[in-house]
Parts: sequence; structure tokens; C-alpha cells
Amino acid sequence: MGLSLQTEIAGLKLKNPILSASGCFGYGEEATEFFDINQLGGMVTKSITPLPRTGHPPPKVVETASGMLNAIGLTNVGLDRFIMEKLPFLQKLSCTVIVNIAGSTVNDYTMLAGKISSLEGVDAIEVNISCPNVDSGGLEFGASPAEAAKVIRAVKKASRVPVIPKLSPNVTDIVAVAKAVEDAGADAVSLINTLVGTAIDIQTTRFKLSNRFGGLSGPAVKPVALAMVYKVASAVKIPVIGVGGISSGDDVVEFLMAGAKAVQIGTACFAEPTVFLRVIDELSTYLKKNNYQNVNDIIGAVKDG
Ligand SMILES: Cc1cc2nc3c(=O)[nH]c(=O)nc-3n(C[C@H](O)[C@H](O)[C@H](O)COP(=O)(O)O)c2cc1C
Repeated sequence: MGLSLQTEIAGLKLKNPILSASGCFGYGEEATEFFDINQLGGMVTKSITPLPRTGHPPPKVVETASGMLNAIGLTNVGLDRFIMEKLPFLQKLSCTVIVNIAGSTVNDYTMLAGKISSLEGVDAIEVNISCPNVDSGGLEFGASPAEAAKVIRAVKKASRVPVIPKLSPNVTDIVAVAKAVEDAGADAVSLINTLVGTAIDIQTTRFKLSNRFGGLSGPAVKPVALAMVYKVASAVKIPVIGVGGISSGDDVVEFLMAGAKAVQIGTACFAEPTVFLRVIDELSTYLKKNNYQNVNDIIGAVKDG
């Protein structure tokens, strides 16, 4: 029997557990000049808000040791242009399409979920309750179990497709938030979004980001993400999607062993747009070398040292 990379998240069949992360892959079409994105298990769009957002003024991105800080400010085309200009491309894809939504109020989230989940070609909704780079909404919802549950309960009522809250690492107890959204009806959870950070230019005495603070991502956050994925996967029954600092097949194996059923890759694709294909290849090589025939056999396989 050949090697199977197939996995399932909330009833969605993924041909492999590798997805693109929100905000690092545009609306999909941008990546087609580099590779056929149907080779992915799935893709997640940039966060869509009710109205277009221009985001923060530059500088929006700073390089850090083993990572980057970004304060994009949820720049996106808004719901109407998403439907008119971006959706037709997504509808032609054979990989799983997850649309990420963000809002400032519960009403924003339910309106977006209701409209977007009824569009053909949208397989699931990822709910960004964890953006550290906006003044209202975002983290306000994701930082408290009760607020997170309120948004997700409402989104779940409005949505016709599976609902996947995206959790923030900028909390005291991410397990409590995960349990709260599970109780509120979430079909899966993805984690982590970026960690709040900053950087200062000592020559000019200015913050390096116009927004002062940004979100840290890339290899620097991987150990944090991995620990949180393990804790959450051990505490909830719904599937966990691991995100944070992944750039190799070995990284993916670690997240799967920690209990993730799938993973997303963000920052790594800026330097290497085809990173996904290399990672799928490396994952297959690891599984074959270690005599696994099914990727699901390593999910949650970690043991105490
Ligand atoms: C430039 C940039 C923009 C991002 N935009 C979004 C976004 O719009 N919505 C969201 O939920 N996450 C967003 N993220 C977070 C990523 O999806 C991911 O959770 C995080 O970067 C950690 O994964 P990574 O280390 O593989 O990048 C963004 C990250 C970066 C670096």
C-alpha cells in the first residue's frame, strides 16, 4: 500500500495536512505564478473585514532574530470586492478553501460568516479573534474565554460551513479559550496567531514600526506554538490546526506528534514561495523512512522523554 497523507478536519477531506496561513498567501491567485496551489491540502485567505482596509502606514514589517514583526493592520479588499474580484478564482480550486474573517463587533463577524459561508466554493471559515494589530475587535475577543465564546456561538449560528476560531498566544491560558470556543460550537481551532512584540531604532530613538507594536512570527515562535498546540490538543476533542514558525517537513512532524491534525505555513513562504511543496516532500520522506503508511499514525504520538 502506498503512503497516505490524507487527513480530515471538521469533515473536510484534505489531500495532505499542509495549508497556507492567513495573510501570507493573499487570496491564492498571487501564488499561481510559483506553483499549482491545488497541491496544497488547503489555503486560507487574508482576513476579510466588512469594509476595505488600507492598514497601517509604513514601516509595517521589521526583521528580527529568526523571525519578523508585522503591523499590517488587516489590509484587505473588504467583503464586496472579495466576492466580486477574489472569489471566482477560489471557486475553481480543488484544494480546500478556508476564508478568514475579522471584525470589530459581534455583528461584523456574524454578517461576514452568514454571507461568506453561503458562497459556493467556500469550505470553511477561520475566525480571526487574535489579530494583535488593530485597535478594536481582534484580540479583544480572543483574549477572554467568555468573549471568544460569544463571538463563536454567534458565528456558528450564522455559518453554513465549519467554523474554525484562530486563537491568540497573547493570553494567560490558551487552553481556557480553546475549551470555551469548543463549548460554543467551534468545529476545529487553529493556533497560534502572532505574538505581540516591538523593536526600537536606537539611532533615531524611534519605534521601528509606525504602529509601535507588531506581531512576531517565523521560526522564533515555533517552540511557543508547539507547546500551545500540545496543551490545546490534549484538552479539547475538536481537531487542532498548528501554525507558527513551520518551514520544514520535520517541523510539521513535530506539530503532528504534538496533536495537530494539519498545519499552516505563513512567514516561511515570503522567502520561499514554494516552501509548501518542499515541506510535503520532506514529510513524505520522513514517514517512508520511519515505516509509516499513513500520516494519521503520527498525530498525537509524542511520549514523555
Ligand atoms: C505579514 C503577515 C500578515 C498576517 N495576516 C494575518 C491575517 O490577516 N489574519 C490572520 O488570522 N493571521 C494573519 N497572520 C498570522 C499568520 O497567519 C500566522 O498565524 C503567524 O504568522 C504564525 O505563523 P508563521 O510563523 O508560519 O508565519 C499574518 C502573519 C504575517 C507574518
